[in-house]
Amino acid sequence: MGTELRVGLLGCGNVGAATARILVEHADDIERRAGVPIELTRVAVRDAAKVRGVPIQSSRFTTDPFAVVRDPDVDVVVEVIGGTDPALALIVEALTAGKPVVTANKELLATRSTELFAAAERGGADLLYEASVGGGIPIIRSMRESLAGDRIVRFMGIVNGTTNYILTRMTEDGLSMAAALAEAQALGFAEADPTADVEGFDAAAKAAILATIAFDTPVVAGDVYREGIGAVGADDISFARRLGYVVKLLAIAEAQNGDVSVRVHPAMIPAEHPLASVREGFNAVFIEGERVGPLMLYGRGAGGDPTATSVVGDLIELARNRGEAGTSMIGHATHPGSPGSYPERRIRPIDELSSQYYFLMRVADRPGVLAAIAASFATHEVSIKSVWQEGHGAEAQIVLITHRATERSLRACVEELRGIDSVSEVSSVLRVEAGEP
Ligand SMILES: NC(=O)c1ccc[n+]([C@@H]2O[C@H](COP(=O)([O-])OP(=O)(O)OC[C@H]3O[C@@H](n4cnc5c(N)ncnc54)[C@H](OP(=O)(O)O)[C@@H]3O)[C@@H](O)[C@H]2O)c1
Repeated sequence: MGTELRVGLLGCGNVGAATARILVEHADDIERRAGVPIELTRVAVRDAAKVRGVPIQSSRFTTDPFAVVRDPDVDVVVEVIGGTDPALALIVEALTAGKPVVTANKELLATRSTELFAAAERGGADLLYEASVGGGIPIIRSMRESLAGDRIVRFMGIVNGTTNYILTRMTEDGLSMAAALAEAQALGFAEADPTADVEGFDAAAKAAILATIAFDTPVVAGDVYREGIGAVGADDISFARRLGYVVKLLAIAEAQNGDVSVRVHPAMIPAEHPLASVREGFNAVFIEGERVGPLMLYGRGAGGDPTATSVVGDLIELARNRGEAGTSMIGHATHPGSPGSYPERRIRPIDELSSQYYFLMRVADRPGVLAAIAASFATHEVSIKSVWQEGHGAEAQIVLITHRATERSLRACVEELRGIDSVSEVSSVLRVEAGEP
């Protein structure tokens, strides 16, 4: 056995405390698998007085995270503080000093990857981040290593547990969005401020990280087209069910003739699609590879223990690959997304993408309405696949599903429909995914 790997832990909250417990409670297995013991030597927190229930001596705690990064007894830094400040400065300092870093910080990876990978290159140190997407699901390693021999054509994922929980409760129990959100908050699934989840920011950050790996090109959160679930109504959920679909918040990325498209939005998917059965707080990513075909990774996308298994897996990888002199040898500093390692691919604007659409409209119940609506669709070359009328009089609604059309045509069509006298409201437009090639 070589020398132990000494870990400095920045943050001891949900993920940090679970990481500490696994390192101590699974120490024998971890040592066997890593080839060396992995030991927690220092821990930085904000509040030194907090009771944490972790098996670490109190003398190892500090409230100065920079002291942990600079400690000569720390070989590797685990950043599970979250946010940008001071996490960015801490990671950059560690990497620049040649200390590998393991992080779960999706926000940072999706917005400041250039600085992070530049520091990794400068210091010749690895930056591993399996825990940043999909919690306990080994999605990053699968894409980067197991699928390295294939070309990923497309991935479609449920990567936010809070919104999936809300949509599941709306679908299965008829809850309103507000009631489902309140329940998710009471159960600890959703933050007090749910904006990052409900508006799709969290999913967009994860989509950017995964797309960077899948398509060997830098993608940041700002490149991702994003719509949250705020506009999904009880009617949409119920029509979806009756038409054989389920509504999910999806992160979708595709390679298209050398370009890449990345988007996050609610969509209907066929009830028989593997992603449709991903319920409550679970996450899954459905990948389509050129040679491997379709495959899906499914599991707990959040929570201290699942996420900590990804952190510990990264630590074991670092320990296994440590060079003779204790230096890093994995070379992830030059993996996709690092500056200059791959040519940039164009990110396709949403207007150029195409999909099927579901429409829900409130209309006047009189002859000729359908003809006027059909004429608008025809003018904009959006072809209708199926149409239903529901209710009578002031309650009349038209539901329709289109064939594939571009977003540009769709927007023009919606604009025109809003100007038709007998259409009192275009209540909803949702994309329909995985329905037709
Ligand atoms: N929770 C999950 O399920 C999950 C899943 C995937 C990824 N992640 C990511 O993992 C990271 C951590 O999440 P979490 O849920 O574990 O967060 P958390 O429970 O809020 O823990 C954050 C920890 O960081 C410490 N901290 C905050 N500011 C600090 C500072 N300036 N100096 C030193 N310590 C500081 C806090 O100290 P105190 O305890 O003293 O306040 C706390 O221990 C985030 O990037 C998150 O996005 C979380």
